[in-house]
Amino acid sequence: MAAALLGASEKGTLKDGKATEVSAVVTETRFTQLYREYLEKQQLLDKRHRVKKLPGGTVALPVVEETFIEQHLQELKMHVAPESTCVLARIQNPLLSKRAQLRSPAQKLRSAVRCLVEGRGVPWSAGLERDLPRAWQRHGDLLLVSEDSFRAPLWEELGQELWETVAAALGVRRLAKRGRVAPGGTRTPRVTLLLGDDGWVEHVDDGIRYTFDVTQCMFCPGNVTEKLRVASLPCAGEVLVDLYAGIGYFTLPFLVHAGVAFVHACEWNPHAVAALRRNLELNGVADRCQIHAGDNRKLDLEDRADRVNLGLIPSCQEGWPVACRVLRRDRGGVLHIHHNVEAFPDPGPRVKGPPQPPRGSPSGGEEPRSAADCGRGTPVTVAPKVEWRRWAESAEAQIGILLEQLHGKPWRTRILHIEPVKSYAPHVDHVVLDLECRPLPS
Ligand SMILES: C[S@@+](CC[C@H](N)C(=O)[O-])C[C@H]1O[C@@H](n2cnc3c(N)ncnc32)[C@H](O)[C@@H]1O
Repeated sequence: MAAALLGASEKGTLKDGKATEVSAVVTETRFTQLYREYLEKQQLLDKRHRVKKLPGGTVALPVVEETFIEQHLQELKMHVAPESTCVLARIQNPLLSKRAQLRSPAQKLRSAVRCLVEGRGVPWSAGLERDLPRAWQRHGDLLLVSEDSFRAPLWEELGQELWETVAAALGVRRLAKRGRVAPGGTRTPRVTLLLGDDGWVEHVDDGIRYTFDVTQCMFCPGNVTEKLRVASLPCAGEVLVDLYAGIGYFTLPFLVHAGVAFVHACEWNPHAVAALRRNLELNGVADRCQIHAGDNRKLDLEDRADRVNLGLIPSCQEGWPVACRVLRRDRGGVLHIHHNVEAFPDPGPRVKGPPQPPRGSPSGGEEPRSAADCGRGTPVTVAPKVEWRRWAESAEAQIGILLEQLHGKPWRTRILHIEPVKSYAPHVDHVVLDLECRPLPS
């Protein structure tokens, strides 16, 4: 009888992402607790929906679709509650349980996708569950999901309806999926648009507007602490060369907040150049920036900069010669050198570094602080690790040699500060070395 009842009804349909009917086991009210305990233990109880009181002293306990349900019905009738009536039925318009109503975005996503899948007659599985995104970036009405999600062939079969369900569950209009950053220097992310017409998004960060196409330009949410730090540097009247400008993540804070007089921004990815151009206009600073589109190693500029930003990881070493060349010959300046340093979490001896003066400035003190977790990566300890220090000293020595070779006289270099930006990967820290470089009197 139970099977006939189930067979007679349609499988779960969806309205606005909610199930319009679900399967339920019907029994007498007095057996509710015994049934609930059994179904819960067997992981058959559908906790997303409420138990429904029916006329005639019976209740319907929502259950998940399960091929072997018939066996469980027998078990309930024969052993769990021998006197009970046990019938499988369908509940129309089931009410969501209180727990289901208070759900996190991830839970909303899971339940909407699960309803869609089950509505297509496909049983929900642990594999599908694992294939749902656990991390995403929200860019206004566009959601960027991680590369390790939605890999099962089923998702492709569901196509447009799936992406609409995901977007509705998470309150966005457009969806994109991230791939790995393409090898090669342009750092182009492999992002595929799944729903929507284009990938242009806009952010406001620290009062600065950034727009870019997520399918063409990379976005480093983990660099936010470094953007705030450069924004607070005292750079009034200085000329900055930003060797890896991207869409302007450092160029703009330097121009808008740090008081830099002029920036030479180098970038070779034409999509990033287009976004950088728009961002300079959006923030009203286009007249204080010259974009040098192309390979910065061929930059036709020298003896110009008070400061050079080298924001490329894992290493910007290829840019060191040009950085040394563009520094002012008469008084030098400061280099901000990004690097991924392999470092281990041994809490053991921390090298007592030089005093950590303020954020890249040649004088002053700095409050200890930790870099915030900005999506990818986690904060790293503030006390300089031995490995950071070792790398910084080696970089300092190499740059000293480069400066002397290029300018034909000795220079003095000084490590001003080592800033941890984020933990890039296990045992890999993204740090920035602020290196002061001054020519010595001939
Ligand atoms: C990691 S992104 C950094 C962007 C920005 N600094 C940030 O943190 O968001 C590095 C940028 O440098 C550019 N780039 C890499 N090598 C370059 C080169 N030799 N010349 C010019 N641009 C380069 C890439 O296209 C990319 O946009």
